[in-house]
Amino acid sequence: MHNPSVFRSMHRERFGADPAIFVAPGRVNLIGEHTDYAEGFVMPAAINFATLAGISPRTDGKIAIYSENYGEEKTFDAAALPAKGNKHWSDYPMGVVSILKGEGHKIPAFSLSIWSDVPLASGLSSSAALEVATAIAVMDLIGATYPGPVLARLCQRAENEFVGANCGIMDQFISVNGKENHALLLDCRDLSYKLAPIPDHVALVIANTMVKHSVAGGDYPTRRRESEAACAVIASHRPGVPFLRDATLEDLEKWGHEMEPKSRMRAKHVISEDLRTVAACEALLKGDMKELGRLMAEAHRSYSRDFEGSCVEADAMVELAQDLPGLIGTRLTGGGFGGCTVNLVEQSEAAKFAEALGVRYAARTGITPQIHICHASGGAHRLE
Ligand code: GLA
Repeated sequence: MHNPSVFRSMHRERFGADPAIFVAPGRVNLIGEHTDYAEGFVMPAAINFATLAGISPRTDGKIAIYSENYGEEKTFDAAALPAKGNKHWSDYPMGVVSILKGEGHKIPAFSLSIWSDVPLASGLSSSAALEVATAIAVMDLIGATYPGPVLARLCQRAENEFVGANCGIMDQFISVNGKENHALLLDCRDLSYKLAPIPDHVALVIANTMVKHSVAGGDYPTRRRESEAACAVIASHRPGVPFLRDATLEDLEKWGHEMEPKSRMRAKHVISEDLRTVAACEALLKGDMKELGRLMAEAHRSYSRDFEGSCVEADAMVELAQDLPGLIGTRLTGGGFGGCTVNLVEQSEAAKFAEALGVRYAARTGITPQIHICHASGGAHRLE
């Protein structure tokens, strides 16, 4: 139903008012995994899967939120908002409302409808798309505006502080600031960024292993703690290293023996991934697809072996793509432990590639994957 007029009628029928409609995309990360919360580099692109949010004012003091995906409506008292989430889909929109209130905005009564085609729990940032769509809808209603990077931070805080998931800034940032046909190299320290065009002849093929991934689950925070513990060891010798962004592979050589072995491996991934990510952007800007593919392969190995952030199915998806015609580069994308691989593929081969990969993966794992041929899309905005 990526059809705003159907969405509009749905909102009108349920809430008896015409909504203003906003859209926020999901994302695929080309390279730079678990580097964002270490103030490092990431290079995602927004994709043509998105969340719609329709909003209209009410007069009864209530906030009503309807999710078409869950077929469920939740109602809150605008004057008595919850302070924390309770493990429900409505935590994401309500987290944003709560953060906006904390920023000093008076929150009025409203009806909000939500619909999304971003696959859930697949590492494509359905949560960030929901947060950002809600944020720009509510901001429009209350007449608030924020620069893109600030808006992304507010949405990240909704997830950190209200939902209770310890994510970094990447997903919200790209959902707000993505650009059609471009990848975005983000410096997660100062939120400065560089856009790199994705050539027309390259398709983004996203292959869903169908193994569920969640940032709120145990593995993501465990990996984060392990890599931060390694950073603390380095910082005890070299105080100028508050984040792994500031560390070098030489630091690991020198002080790695003082770290838990797992911590050392996580840090090796993060430190080397920052270098690869910056190099990958240069390769993309130069149109050196071969080098980009090589860096993606190295990134996957590092993510899987040193970070232990992959799973059997995602490793299989990467391996089975290797010799298919048209492949430029492939790796597991997103928070890890399942979800999707991102494949850069020659456009002319993309359909055949997708089909062959699906057949191979099903034969190997017994799981029917979902494989989508996508393109890089623009960031969140109002639909007229
Ligand atoms: C999830 C988080 C991001 C980032 C990635 C891993 O998508 O939401 O902040 O940490 O995992 O790169």
